[in-house]
Amino acid sequence: KKEINIGLLGFGVVGSGVAQILLNHQTDLQHKLGVSVQIKKAMVRNLDKERDTKLSKDIFTTSLDDILSDDSIDLIVEVMGGTTDAKDAIERSLQAGKGVVTANKDVMAEVGPKLLKIADENGCDLFYEASVGGGIPLIRTLEDGLASDRIHALTGIVNGTTNFMLTKMKEENMSYDAALALATELGFAEADPTADVDGLDAARKMVILASLAFSTEVKLEDVYVRGIREIKDGDVELADRFGYTVKLAGTAKKDENGIEVAVEPVFLPNAHPLASVNNEMNAVYVYGDAVGETMFYGPGAGSLPTATSVTGDIVAACRNLLLGVNGKRKHAPQYERKVKDDAQ
Ligand code: HSE
Repeated sequence: KKEINIGLLGFGVVGSGVAQILLNHQTDLQHKLGVSVQIKKAMVRNLDKERDTKLSKDIFTTSLDDILSDDSIDLIVEVMGGTTDAKDAIERSLQAGKGVVTANKDVMAEVGPKLLKIADENGCDLFYEASVGGGIPLIRTLEDGLASDRIHALTGIVNGTTNFMLTKMKEENMSYDAALALATELGFAEADPTADVDGLDAARKMVILASLAFSTEVKLEDVYVRGIREIKDGDVELADRFGYTVKLAGTAKKDENGIEVAVEPVFLPNAHPLASVNNEMNAVYVYGDAVGETMFYGPGAGSLPTATSVTGDIVAACRNLLLGVNGKRKHAPQYERKVKDDAQ
């Protein structure tokens, strides 16, 4: 093989970032993989839209079939977002024998285990590093780095938009509405930002993290979710006067009583390490039996950080394709661990 061809689904904030990284880092990727990686086709909704890209106009299509029927396309990168269409596109890609890299937390939180099974059945990879924590490699850390540990809790800030808003409200006295408008303009917010402000985006990410951390399938409907919509401009200032910072925190813990996952606004003392995680940054603490406490920090949203995780997955998928071991990776088993019967 001399080249690996990608079918890109979606060319928005993340998709254009992926195209940019693949073009700008082409020599580095060629050096690391020994082959060139390029976008052969890109699916978009509107062909006439002006796009600021060096890619040729000819590669754009509105048809998924056009991409799936192209035998020279090895890998599908789904960055279109949303649920129904994206889920169908991932499923059809896997059934067509093409590996998938996705940034889609909505789909992975809803039907991740089902899609991973379809990937296994079809001998394909399905990678989703960009679904949580933008540019922080969290999924791989839980799957590989901390694989031997018994994790009992995770806590942190996993939504960039709300963290950005709360930071601007505190530090620049910006109003809730102005802060949301700015987060949207900077490409942090979801297409429908109610998912951000109502805590649903964070809840989906906590579902993905908790399922991996506890090797079990956590369901979105079991998560307690409360967003920041009720926070008034004055609340953040008042908290600050008493030495506190308002943050939207996600927590997941497992003990003898089971698993509990929640997303809600909290008052953190200003000296708390999470209180100084600002703007669109995310941070996640993992508490494990053996590792103790370990913390991951980095950009949680935005075009290039999120696209970095996507292209990292593309590199992993390319390596597997080149080694002929695509689809051979075994995913975290979906079983309920018995907490008490293991040797302590
Ligand atoms: N809207 C999301 C956020 C994008 O603000 O965190 C990254 O998943």
